[in-house]
Amino acid sequence: MLYVARTRTLAPSGRVFRAASTWLNVPAGPPDPILGVTEAFKANKDPRKINLGVGAYRDGDGKPYVLYSVRKAEDILRASNPDKEYLPISGLPEFTKNATKLAYGVDSVPLKANSIASTQTLSGTGALRIGGAFLARFYPHSKVIYLPVPSWGNHTPIFRDSGLEVRGYRYFDKKTVGLDFEGLKEDLKNAPERSVVLLHACAHNPTGVDPTPAQWKEISDVVKERKLFPFFDMAYQGFASGSTDRDAHAVRLFVSEGHQIALAQSFAKNMGLYGERAGAFSLTTADPEEKARVESQLKIVIRPMYSNPPLHGSRIANTILGSPELYGEWEGEVRGMAERIISMRERLYDALTGTHKTPGEWGHIKSQIGMFSFTGLTPPQTEALAKRAHIYMTADGRISMAGLNGNNIDYFAESVSAAVKGTL
Ligand SMILES: Cc1ncc(COP(=O)(O)O)c(C=O)c1O
Repeated sequence: MLYVARTRTLAPSGRVFRAASTWLNVPAGPPDPILGVTEAFKANKDPRKINLGVGAYRDGDGKPYVLYSVRKAEDILRASNPDKEYLPISGLPEFTKNATKLAYGVDSVPLKANSIASTQTLSGTGALRIGGAFLARFYPHSKVIYLPVPSWGNHTPIFRDSGLEVRGYRYFDKKTVGLDFEGLKEDLKNAPERSVVLLHACAHNPTGVDPTPAQWKEISDVVKERKLFPFFDMAYQGFASGSTDRDAHAVRLFVSEGHQIALAQSFAKNMGLYGERAGAFSLTTADPEEKARVESQLKIVIRPMYSNPPLHGSRIANTILGSPELYGEWEGEVRGMAERIISMRERLYDALTGTHKTPGEWGHIKSQIGMFSFTGLTPPQTEALAKRAHIYMTADGRISMAGLNGNNIDYFAESVSAAVKGTL
């Protein structure tokens, strides 16, 4: 009897004995560096707490913001009483067409030539993952992708899990808190010919530092010289400057310079469709016949992963992109979000340098672009801010400017100043 009891895997309650569990040797993974910040924020009960970790837009009262154009599109959709059938593997065809128009421009040559292969994806992350998997399977020249250092934290696991070897090129200069343009060019020049290079199209995450139009032209020349394959990640179209056209400059420049490109698009930020997972992946091809071949293989990549994408987000985005009236309204809202962020940059700069006389150079707060600012705060300073001022950001000192507003910016500036002076 004793022997039988010891070898049973189930306790009488049905609970599995730990020593007999199949998952005994699964090690605990580290928490996600960005989502972990939100967890810590949620657990804090102090009324002054501020979460600047997550990259989601907040309105002037610090609340999540649903765009009016999105609400209107949802009203239109509801009134048409649409079905809930499966989408095709590559999604809603009108949506992908409109998404490519938004990115490449209505006058784009490959668009007019019907040679852009595209598919709907699970937001920007899904676009990068499908793109990575497609390149791993079909890009004939290399399995190496170069990412800027630093880059969005999810890029490395996305491309590694797609089957590519991830390497880095210099991007950010800690000394100037700006672009390390010479380092960038040198590293791309030294990359093996035909490697893949990932470029943030605008509003670089996490640094907020973008190349100028003249620098983009030089990058295009180096990419051409080394025959590198450019893969653009455009997660923030409209968020950098407030203009979706201006923010598409780099993508359109590369296409007009004759590069074949890959492009990941997200509607999470510029339409506030975070949880709807609306995005697109596209590749420029030689002609409609090649486009059809490439699209057939994109479907084969997607089908065993998730079969087909979700409906609602792409319907919303498509309703906005397909209606001149809603499109105009949406563009105004994107501009409004970008302008609020820019105004926060100015107020923060003034408070840090003027009101609080914070030691150091803070010009980057104003010159950086898009949702994020790489403040230059050190890990001990960010830790002190979390512990003593209830202010949360990633350990590298990145803050989401969208988390600041008229109610919390003075407290934030005062706390940062104290952290830098060592008096917090
Ligand atoms: C640079 C960059 N690329 C892609 C994404 C993907 O976002 P999503 O999958 O929510 O569209 C993000 C999100 O933060 C990002 O910052």
